[in-house]
Amino acid sequence: MKAAILGTGSWGTAFGRHLAHKWDQVVMWGIEPSQVDAINQTGTNPDFLGDIPLPPNLRATLDLNDCLENALALFVVVPSQAVRGVMAEVVKSTTFPPGIPVVNLAKGFEVSTLQRISEVITDELEQAGRLADHPVGVLLGPSHAEEVALEQPTAVVLSGRPDFNWEPLQNNISGPFFRVYINEDLPGVEIASGFKNIIALAVGMTDGLGTGDNTRGTLMTRGMVELARIGCALGGRQETFFGLAGIGDMITTCISRHSRNRNFGEAVTTSEKNPQEILAESIQVVEGVFMTQAALKLGQKLGVELPVTKQVHDVLFSGKPPRLAMRELMERQLRTELD
Ligand SMILES: NC(=O)c1ccc[n+]([C@@H]2O[C@H](COP(=O)([O-])OP(=O)(O)OC[C@H]3O[C@@H](n4cnc5c(N)ncnc54)[C@H](O)[C@@H]3O)[C@@H](O)[C@H]2O)c1
Repeated sequence: MKAAILGTGSWGTAFGRHLAHKWDQVVMWGIEPSQVDAINQTGTNPDFLGDIPLPPNLRATLDLNDCLENALALFVVVPSQAVRGVMAEVVKSTTFPPGIPVVNLAKGFEVSTLQRISEVITDELEQAGRLADHPVGVLLGPSHAEEVALEQPTAVVLSGRPDFNWEPLQNNISGPFFRVYINEDLPGVEIASGFKNIIALAVGMTDGLGTGDNTRGTLMTRGMVELARIGCALGGRQETFFGLAGIGDMITTCISRHSRNRNFGEAVTTSEKNPQEILAESIQVVEGVFMTQAALKLGQKLGVELPVTKQVHDVLFSGKPPRLAMRELMERQLRTELD
């Protein structure tokens, strides 16, 4: 049993390491020769996972055909804005096995089209005339790579095309430290996972300003209301936003020292540099920044108010001081909680 993974970053490697307990062979495809060589030669991924050892049945390759050949499932773990380009190459590959499930693990939307990432994958398969062939799904939820790589108990959600039986894959991905639930609300799961990074940026910004737990709790709760509001307008189910991909991932991302979105938000308020300069220095993708742009456009298109997202966007892209953004949120017109 062979699994193919696109991406040799933190999550691709940690997830591949987990799969290697159960699958005979796991092959990750990457574009950075230094990352691929380090994984194969040292049995670690020093850029992203320090010295955590990787098993011998997990390897990396620069050759996409090699990665895909004879795979029984394909997992897409590159940054969300790169998925379309990568899938365009996958569908051209002569070794892409017909019929295998294609599962997205990236969290975000494509900014240029405002599509969910599973929709981007679906588009590329459809254009190549291969959509009928491949079930498309997502595997998302509170799953920091650093903790999965250390085998700390984690639970996530598998969601996908409703006419496909996802249970065999659920079984083949689950393990003693990694529990997989199925949720049939694909849009809700994907929307929740993308949007919560915006709230993590906001929490990081207020952490950087020195505010405390009252502020964190307020941002997470009102952020979840905002997320559910746009998520339902986009076709997600309310209950999903209170599940693992929703509130579960929101809490994890907003309180964790591993969260690059929270950490980036904090750096924005504590660093002398501007947000774009800080971003340029990060070797890891900060999905919330792209998601803020996509969310604001979606909110405008659907007529849904997104006050936290708007303030985060203005801090990141219009030079608004974070303290002013926080004050404007606090001084919005007073209202009832449950509307
Ligand atoms: N890190 C986590 O804990 C975690 C957990 C769950 C989901 N995710 C999601 O998984 C996705 C990947 O995150 P990550 O943490 O692995 O990112 P990362 O920054 O650690 O690694 C990104 C990887 O993608 C590769 N890459 C970048 N541009 C590419 C391109 N155009 N084509 C091919 N490869 C490219 C990089 O070389 C690198 O190997 C993101 O959407 C993230 O939100 C991450």
